[in-house]
Amino acid sequence: MAAPTLEEITSLCIRRGYFFPSGRIYGGLAGFFDYGPLGVEFRKEVLDDWWDFFVRSRDDIVGIYGSIITHPRTWEASGHVESFIDFIVTCKRCNRDFRADHLLEDLGIEVKELTAEYLERVLREHGVRCPNCGGELTSPQPFNLMFTTYVGPKRTKASLAFLRPETAQLIFLNFKDVYITARLKLPFGVAQVGKAFRNEISPRNFLFRVREFEQMEIEYFVNPKKLDDCPLFKEVAGLEVNFLTAKMQEKGEKEAKAMTLEDAFDRGLISCKWHAYWIGESLRWLNRIGLPMSKLRVREHVKTELAHYAVQTFDVEYLFPYMGWKEIEGISNRSNYDLRRHQEYSGKDLTILDDGEKVLPYVIEPSFGLERVLLALITEAYRVIDGRTVLSLNARIAPIKVGVYPLVTKEPFVKKAREVYRIVKAKFTALYDERGSIGRRYARADEAGVPLGVTIDGQTLEDDTVTLRFRDTRQQIRVKISELTRIIGEVIENWERYSKAPMEVIAEQVGGKL
Ligand code: GAP
Repeated sequence: MAAPTLEEITSLCIRRGYFFPSGRIYGGLAGFFDYGPLGVEFRKEVLDDWWDFFVRSRDDIVGIYGSIITHPRTWEASGHVESFIDFIVTCKRCNRDFRADHLLEDLGIEVKELTAEYLERVLREHGVRCPNCGGELTSPQPFNLMFTTYVGPKRTKASLAFLRPETAQLIFLNFKDVYITARLKLPFGVAQVGKAFRNEISPRNFLFRVREFEQMEIEYFVNPKKLDDCPLFKEVAGLEVNFLTAKMQEKGEKEAKAMTLEDAFDRGLISCKWHAYWIGESLRWLNRIGLPMSKLRVREHVKTELAHYAVQTFDVEYLFPYMGWKEIEGISNRSNYDLRRHQEYSGKDLTILDDGEKVLPYVIEPSFGLERVLLALITEAYRVIDGRTVLSLNARIAPIKVGVYPLVTKEPFVKKAREVYRIVKAKFTALYDERGSIGRRYARADEAGVPLGVTIDGQTLEDDTVTLRFRDTRQQIRVKISELTRIIGEVIENWERYSKAPMEVIAEQVGGKL
């Protein structure tokens, strides 16, 4: 089966109401998207699963929900005012702006450094001109990505504020209050989900690079003397991971090497054991929601791309068929850079006690971009079967879990189908559809990613059983209405086991008939 193109993915998302370009009736605003009826449920399913996995199921992580605009000193202390920049070049003829490193990458020219001098040199060496009109380009200029606004009625330097470019800083600002009020003990984490804003020079590739997006971030605080003291590591030590280290990249190697996390840690490739643990947990979650390990790799940042705060960063990359390997999550060791800077700038003591000693903890940060995860999931799920598009999303995160259909759109089928719909909808996101032939209704649901279908037919009226249809195999089993919600729940919970299993196995295990 041919891999989907970005155009096919975009078209499906708009056609089925996952996402719409924001302000579409006015021609759209580059870098902004709105969630449609399916998208908004999809977003919630993925966020909820993330929160369950990383927060609610654990004892060592609590959540916060910080403000989008906060004290402007935050961004001076964090280094974003000074260092959160990309380099822009403008065409002298048509006045279009381009991100200098992207311009080079689009021409297949490797970018080894992100400095104005380096980019200028490489642009000149290759004689790069405007891709729009062939005009001459300006020298690369630093461009700060933070959106600005003013707080209060006066538009002065004193009232200038920023929309947060990462959610992480709100965790650092609240660090001590959270530590005290939640009565935490090192090591512990603080999680947050929320919007972040970046005035990207060239937003592109649909949801991949946008100007307003959501992050799902954890700052996991560890005593700097206990960075390798990670009792949880054994849970992920044997996980086989595709690694592309900085050294390998410096040698010009392009292919990742598979090794266990334990092996990678023992070889000294990862800054500390807690860092290795969070790589493992991240991959476990991505895998559980539907991204296969074979299409995920962990690429270390080379020195020149490392953020100003990071000791070591790994990007978790997904193999997008239309873009190649691209980052969907960053996992950094930020040391105690942020807490130290906020301590300096605020004059407040941010140390906490551990074993009777005052410490300023180090932090390991798994940082996921929601839109990129959603795009990867939709891409991975996209299939064309017998000329029809099917979105094979994992039932765990599918926006609508069940479709309910009367086989014939006449009474008494419709009345019974509505009854069954009410029962199902009380527990799961569900849709009811009585328009068109049953084949067309299944096809619509398959394309929208609905994993299960319940059909009310002649036999239902005789013995109160319905058929339960599986999207990915298009097979059905017969189940009692009184058992329906239990069986659907069991199937969703164990989707990896049931989604492609033969019907006789499913019928035997969950309780149903062929
Ligand atoms: N707090 C760390 C941080 O913000 P980052 O690598 O700049 O690190 C984390 O961003 C994640 O946020 C990325 O892995 C990506 O998934 C997402 N992200 C960043 N910029 C984005 C953009 N312009 N559009 C969509 N997602 C973005």
